[in-house]
Amino acid sequence: MKIAVPKEQADGETRVSATPETVKKFIALGADVAVEAGAGEGAAIADAAYAAAGARVGDRAQTLAGADIVLGVQGAEPAGLSGVAPGAWVVAGLNPFGERARVDAYAAAGLEALAMEFMPRITRAQSMDILSSQSNLAGYKAVLDAAAEYGRAFPMMMTAAGTVSAAKAFVMGVGVAGLQAIATARRLGAQVSATDVRSATREQIMSLGAKPIFVENVAGIEGEGSGGYAGEMSPEYQAAQAELLSGHLAKQDIVITTALIPGRPAPRLISDAQVATMRAGSVIVDLAVESGGNVEGAVAGEVVERHGVKIVGHRNVAGRLPADASALFSRNLYNFLNAFWDKEAGRPVLDAEIGDAVRLTTSGQVVNARLLGA
Ligand code: NAI
Repeated sequence: MKIAVPKEQADGETRVSATPETVKKFIALGADVAVEAGAGEGAAIADAAYAAAGARVGDRAQTLAGADIVLGVQGAEPAGLSGVAPGAWVVAGLNPFGERARVDAYAAAGLEALAMEFMPRITRAQSMDILSSQSNLAGYKAVLDAAAEYGRAFPMMMTAAGTVSAAKAFVMGVGVAGLQAIATARRLGAQVSATDVRSATREQIMSLGAKPIFVENVAGIEGEGSGGYAGEMSPEYQAAQAELLSGHLAKQDIVITTALIPGRPAPRLISDAQVATMRAGSVIVDLAVESGGNVEGAVAGEVVERHGVKIVGHRNVAGRLPADASALFSRNLYNFLNAFWDKEAGRPVLDAEIGDAVRLTTSGQVVNARLLGA
């Protein structure tokens, strides 16, 4: 059983899908691990550290030749996997909805593609959930990025020269990233409020010491879609939400938006007209910018200014903390493969509950029910 860890090829990808720690653990399971030279560079992991952990470090062709499992942060381009035999697994964040043509190419190449973002949200899979591990870091980093762009301080400070007032921060979308953003903004001393469409988040917001801002008395406010994710809101709800939030937004200094709906474009939460009501020098960070954006005018990969307000649209925000993001991502992949490791077979054998959820392709076919819309 050979596990390959190629260097990520996507522009701006700093992360790596295995660390010396997980390499050692895979070897302890009985696997051979091959790591492409330079794979850990972006995360400050030297080739020598992989070699010391027991991996064979080589060029890309050597790394991939005869691999049974190819790990990735993002999915490798199928054309670049020529040395990998049909039947091998590609285990990575494959962005199945966004990269559908690539999924078809995995099928055509006879590869078994396993999309880690399709991990079901069940208790036993929590340690395998890349969306959680990466969103948590992104939520933290979003607040630091906001603080870096903001020309004022976050905490209230009473000084001999006068008082600096606390920043008002508003978090829109209180999933994993939003909860960490609330906690981080509070730690920096901001006055924090937050909103979500899922009413279950109200208590979570309060337990972190922030103020919940919720639409009341409109049908469908539960907002709970399948698997704990949000669904799309009714037009009535959207109108009530826009009205409620307009007044609130105008008073905010920092806004962090994180709202996502799996498989759909991100919901638009802030219009250009609402941005115009905010005080000059305020900062909005749109964590959903790569999924279409929560904020009108946000540009992926850029910090733009609209009406004197900075709108931050960094891509791959977890990747802005490459060492921790890689460590957690790598553990997610190890936890997944280890949980299903069959000692006799010397390889992982998936069960139906998790296997059917994450498997996109097998035996030349696209088989995933969620991707096929079944
Ligand atoms: P997500 O990244 O899909 O979305 C972020 C947040 O945006 C969600 O809270 C969502 O309700 C909210 N949102 C969507 N549309 C919105 C709108 N129009 N206005 C305001 N907010 C909107 O969500 P994430 O972070 O993946 O978490 C979703 C849920 O799954 C959470 O309850 C989380 O605790 C749960 N979860 C469970 C896991 C497990 O049991 N293994 C693992 C990770 C998360």
